[in-house]
Amino acid sequence: MSSENVPPGPSGLPLLGSTHKYFSSPLSFYEDCADEYGDVVSFTVGGNEMVLVSDPELVETVLVRREDKLGKPDFFQDLLEGVFGRGLLTNEGEDWQTQRQMLQPLFFRERMAEYIGIITEYADDHIRRWDDGSAHEIHGELGSLTLRIITDIVLGIDLEEHGVDLRGDIENLYDRYLPQNQLVPEWVPTRDNREYKSSLSRLNELVYERIETHRERGTDDNSMLSMVMDAGAKSDRDLSDKQIRDEVVTMILGGHETTTALLTFGLYALADRPELQDSVRDEAESILSGGQPTLEDVSAFDKVERAVKETMRLYPPSPVVLRSLRDDLRVGGYQLPEGATAMFPQWVVHHDDRFYDDPWEFDIDRWGGEAEEDRPRYAYFPFGGGSRRCIGHSFAKVEAKLLLATFLDRCEFTLETDDLDLQGSMTLQPANDVYLGIEKR
Ligand code: HEM
Repeated sequence: MSSENVPPGPSGLPLLGSTHKYFSSPLSFYEDCADEYGDVVSFTVGGNEMVLVSDPELVETVLVRREDKLGKPDFFQDLLEGVFGRGLLTNEGEDWQTQRQMLQPLFFRERMAEYIGIITEYADDHIRRWDDGSAHEIHGELGSLTLRIITDIVLGIDLEEHGVDLRGDIENLYDRYLPQNQLVPEWVPTRDNREYKSSLSRLNELVYERIETHRERGTDDNSMLSMVMDAGAKSDRDLSDKQIRDEVVTMILGGHETTTALLTFGLYALADRPELQDSVRDEAESILSGGQPTLEDVSAFDKVERAVKETMRLYPPSPVVLRSLRDDLRVGGYQLPEGATAMFPQWVVHHDDRFYDDPWEFDIDRWGGEAEEDRPRYAYFPFGGGSRRCIGHSFAKVEAKLLLATFLDRCEFTLETDDLDLQGSMTLQPANDVYLGIEKR
């Protein structure tokens, strides 16, 4: 960067810049940068120029209003391409626009009503299997449950009935994105890389088998896969099996880890606050008492909704959004050069005491009143912003609210783990096992 109007930031080590500090703890690195240097901070990581933008007005100005000047960073695409291929998360330009239009109907209101039936069915089954009165590692439990739900919605199968256990494979695929693994290229024959490759083959095998079955039997089971194949057949765009695979794998994996983390953090926070848990439970119980839940029931939740919202503020499942600058840009009085990577950290903005009193406290009463109205819009952006905002956001919110309410209606949760350690790079995850005691009601 030229020295004129360059944002301040850590100079780091010669050649390496801030690479080590960034990769060893991205979350504290963002916090320290914003604390020390302010709303626009520049530094280098792995030879790339980075700019951290953590003022809500500037986030909106760049991420939303100047999105014509932004793209997805190459290193991010390279990292994700192996698993996500050219699905919606990774594609760009006109192809991405066509894909987004084609996939949007998967999340229309009438579809959501059907998804509610699937979510409830698996939640009931899962709760039934919990041993009453014992402690459970909740992150693993929720991961299995949400995976069963999303694979049924996307592929139209119950993984258990199908005799496939993908949970370990999915974990291996996500491990590839942990900061310490990002620096090791895929071709290096480490144990993690070997596991990553066999897990990817097993996932691909299942998805291609489903595509073939759909081709043979026709597309009529209401799964996302059949809708994608149907939409492809009706359009003038001939979707290859690889492209169909990329779209459905993106739907399975794009939101699985984030949704699982959201539920884990939410239950942890409520287990830690028994009074609040009881009061959210009272609402869940009164709304869910009428039998099979509906979309209207989910919209009627108030405390459950605020608990979910506050969970995504305090523990943003996506802690940062990344973009590459495709042109020079002036931001907050600074000149940012084409090629730099802009980082918009929910992790910093959601914990900024200019917008949230006691920002590290879990408090559902921050939502729904004047304080919320007075906040800048982008003081809260768990699902990103602009035209690339999360396509699954309404599904994720419905699923999280419904599962949280159902769990509270049926069980009481107590904390069996003292501390919650967090790790984050592309998503925020618990770094330790999270044990909760479960008493059925
Ligand atoms: C709490 C849950 C979730 C969170 C916090 C979350 C967060 C995000 C964020 C921040 C983005 C924008 C990334 C960027 O701009 O670079 C995004 C994009 C995306 N999300 Fe989600 N997500 C969640 C759940 C889901 C679910 C359930 C699905 C699918 C069923 C999903 C599918 C996607 C896809 C396909 C994209 C790419 C959209 C595009 O580029 O057009 N997400 N998500």
